[in-house]
Amino acid sequence: MCGIVGYVGHGDAVSFILPGLRRLEYRGYDSAGIATVSGMSLDVRKATGKIADLEALLASDRPPGTLGVGHTRWATHGRPSDANAHPHLDCQGQLAIVHNGIIDNYRELRKALAAEGHRFRSQTDTEVIAHLIERYQTNGLEAAVLRAARDLRGAYAVACVASTAPNTLIAIRRGSSPLVIGFGRGETFLASDIPALLGHTREILVLEEGELAVLTPDSVTLRTLDGLPIRRQPSTVLWDGEAAEKSGYPHFMLKEIFEQPEAVRNTVRERVDLEGPEIQIPELGLKDRELAGLNRLCFVACGSSWHAALVGKYLVEAFARLPVEVDIASEFRYRRPVLDSRVLTVAISQSGETADTLAALREARDQGSRAVAICNVVGSSLAREADGVVYTRAGIEIGVASTKAFTAQLAAVTLLGLKLGLARSLVDPALVRQVAKGLWELPDLMSVVLQQRDTIRGIAERFVERDHFLYLGRGLHYPLALEGALKLKEISYIHAEGYPAGEMKHGPIALIDQRMPVVAIVPRGSTYEKMTSNVEEVKARDGVVIAVATEGDEAIAAKADLVIPVPPSLEWLQPVLIAEALQLLAYYVGVLRGCDVDQPRNLAKSVTVE
Ligand code: M6R
Repeated sequence: MCGIVGYVGHGDAVSFILPGLRRLEYRGYDSAGIATVSGMSLDVRKATGKIADLEALLASDRPPGTLGVGHTRWATHGRPSDANAHPHLDCQGQLAIVHNGIIDNYRELRKALAAEGHRFRSQTDTEVIAHLIERYQTNGLEAAVLRAARDLRGAYAVACVASTAPNTLIAIRRGSSPLVIGFGRGETFLASDIPALLGHTREILVLEEGELAVLTPDSVTLRTLDGLPIRRQPSTVLWDGEAAEKSGYPHFMLKEIFEQPEAVRNTVRERVDLEGPEIQIPELGLKDRELAGLNRLCFVACGSSWHAALVGKYLVEAFARLPVEVDIASEFRYRRPVLDSRVLTVAISQSGETADTLAALREARDQGSRAVAICNVVGSSLAREADGVVYTRAGIEIGVASTKAFTAQLAAVTLLGLKLGLARSLVDPALVRQVAKGLWELPDLMSVVLQQRDTIRGIAERFVERDHFLYLGRGLHYPLALEGALKLKEISYIHAEGYPAGEMKHGPIALIDQRMPVVAIVPRGSTYEKMTSNVEEVKARDGVVIAVATEGDEAIAAKADLVIPVPPSLEWLQPVLIAEALQLLAYYVGVLRGCDVDQPRNLAKSVTVE
């Protein structure tokens, strides 16, 4: 949540900061602002709304400077407004800070600072940071920032510039809010995420938890928040700038939906050995002997990643006969889960920065569980803190709605299930070969689903004015019902519920009428007959059924009102194909309703606050 960008060099700071903020807009878009330093003067510009609003302001009133910070906000404390937009200043207007995270003790700090005469201009928790630094500014900016950090409780990434410290940008990080430093020639960059740096540098260094960095045009100095020096070399990222652009698609979401075959192919590649049968996941960091000794697996995740975990439960239990629990990370961390060294905790997260998932992983490790991550962002907090990490290799995902990251997660949990099954000698090698081959061929089937784009758009057109949707699925497809409903909710603002179809007669059936479309996930397989009965029950009550069904299934076509066909595939792999169909349905409904599908209201791509 919230995006931070910083620049120190010899060029125009705004020229880096503005495009950088655009690339981080997925992290929040309630307001945006910048502060630049030129000579001894500090200039601030802020605008409520999106980066475009800030851009419009800067078009006629662009501050000079070769040092600066920028921020795009996802509001936590204080409503979106110019006053609450970052950067925030000290009383003298000499230093400016931008912040991502939450300061837990801001009320008591604010009270104490106000009693000392500090005047506050916003309702944010952030503003206390600027006043605290001001309070301690007797021995220079770096010492003041370090001293202020000792008073702050919570999770934060902060960047600070001051007119009293030209050519110096200071950043600190504590907790789960990410910060990345980029190295240029005679210029140094700072950002919450790598995309903001692309096109400027590939040499990066991740600021770790509990660290301070002093950036100048030619150097970066690292210290712990206790002031001890740190030495660390930068690494090289392989993403390129073009990957972060839309490549001709109208929205990132559609581009990312169409990138899914590649995302799954990359996730599976080098990990399956069709002859073996063998599944290679050395990054798991666990030997087969250790995997065989497990007595339970716990998935923890949020949102779509939690839905991938629910699918994972079916697969791991089927392939490895290992009991599996699935927890929403924000629930797991606040109850007292029973864990020990024979439990493997698997945290799933696209960003690797979701605060609750990170906290759940830490809780699991504290309790002696081995903890691994399934994650898409190399070098993210989750990846660095886990004992092992299985990367999903979906590439950068910009759209707020998870699409290619989700299907890559489904591929990863399938691999994990097979791997565990082999290590425990509880899966038939012939089945492993069959599923591995299916995974290998899956991208081609995924492309077939994407060819249904126009059919799905036509269906979306018919239901664009509806207020409620119900999604039904059974078994492996129940999590897909949840995922389909979540996708529709978040990008079209239509109320949607996902339900295990067997539960329909225990309540939701009362909702069925001609106004509420029912999306029934009914491909051929072990749940087909039961799902067909559910479709009949909906039709018997004048409901409208959109069936996601196996192509060529005339029997379902005769019962349902509309059909989204998916190609036949192994049952274990059907969720991937169904996910694509449901994403396209949600996408077109959202677009036809005029919604901002890449940046839906109130959401952010990466939820780094609790
Ligand atoms: O980065 P993560 O996978 O940890 O994010 C988890 C959720 O915030 C995320 O899946 C969210 O639900 C998406 N908006 C779903 O499309």
